[in-house]
Amino acid sequence: MNSRTVDGVVKNRIKQKKMVDIQELEIAKGNLSKKGFLDMEVDPTLDLVEEIEKLKKEKNAIILAHYYQESEIQDVADYIGDSLGLSQKAANTEADMIVFAGVHFMAETAKMLSPDKKVVLPDLKAGCSLADSCPPHLFRKFKEKYPDHMVVSYINCTAELKTLTDICCTSSNAEHVINSIPKDRGIIFAPDRNLGAWLIKKTGRDLVLWNGTCMVHEIFSNEKITKLQVRFPNAKLIAHPECEAHILDKADFIGSTSGLLKYTKESEFDEFIVATESGIIHQMELASPAKTFIPAPPNNENCACNECPYMRLNTMEKLYLSMKYEQPEIILPDWIIEQGVASIDRMLEISKRAGL
Ligand code: 13P
Ligand code: SF4
Repeated sequence: MNSRTVDGVVKNRIKQKKMVDIQELEIAKGNLSKKGFLDMEVDPTLDLVEEIEKLKKEKNAIILAHYYQESEIQDVADYIGDSLGLSQKAANTEADMIVFAGVHFMAETAKMLSPDKKVVLPDLKAGCSLADSCPPHLFRKFKEKYPDHMVVSYINCTAELKTLTDICCTSSNAEHVINSIPKDRGIIFAPDRNLGAWLIKKTGRDLVLWNGTCMVHEIFSNEKITKLQVRFPNAKLIAHPECEAHILDKADFIGSTSGLLKYTKESEFDEFIVATESGIIHQMELASPAKTFIPAPPNNENCACNECPYMRLNTMEKLYLSMKYEQPEIILPDWIIEQGVASIDRMLEISKRAGL
């Protein structure tokens, strides 16, 4: 074969490969609503970190990651934070595309705060048991029973629930939000009954609670934690306020994910039993390499640590594909954005005033 014929064969192969790629993409897009992500082969020889960095520049994209994401995703993110930090970042970014390495309600919040930007989530099925525990049509009926009450909703709720909410909160600012409401005004708190019960203790207010829970934080084993405390007598037990009261009652420190991280950095102690999703331990170890972090065990038979099955649906491959093809994208009806965003704006305003 002369060089011209070889060239022709190579060009043909490239053309065929492109056609196969286009077909694969079309099939993956067609299956998106069923699967939740672009189900496509990713070349195993690709350096995904390098490719993701290239895509960030090419598309002026920012990756926002929650502390509960797997370590590899945290390492490639532009910002890692708790729900409050992530919404503050989403409200102020100059990027054209927000890639949300977190769960659905977080990406929805980002879209509500930056409606003109493209927001992608690597896997649309990355939901949240707390958000699921409060369907808006049932909450609307519940709310009707307390017509004079204000509604404070934990940000871990659907965009539609935010349209029925006066002020959102996160675990970082919940106390400030409750305290911002006049003392003589009744308050409904949704959807997390554990965070709500903790807020009743902290603020002395009589909140009407919706009965929702986080599937990760409600299953820590008191018995196994006690055994760990016997084995590590100097370890401090630190817990997220989504945990049940019997765990919070024995905790040495209670805080949001960023609050827990800050506590471990600043603490004079060097052993911690961590009662929240174990993804946070990555940042704790990076910040305090000489300290020891022991994940608090759940009730399950075989598990030593506690991972959120929704958060862990995101993978490096799905992250890469979502950036490359800008899918799955978060799309919200205009009325949801218009009626829901005020509750988030009020929360951000209160946080700003509180210096958070
Ligand atoms: P924070 O990030 O506000 O601590 O909340 C934890 C959580 O459960 C997020 O889903
Ligand atoms: Fe929802 Fe709990 Fe998972 Fe957070 S850890 S996303 S609250 S299920």
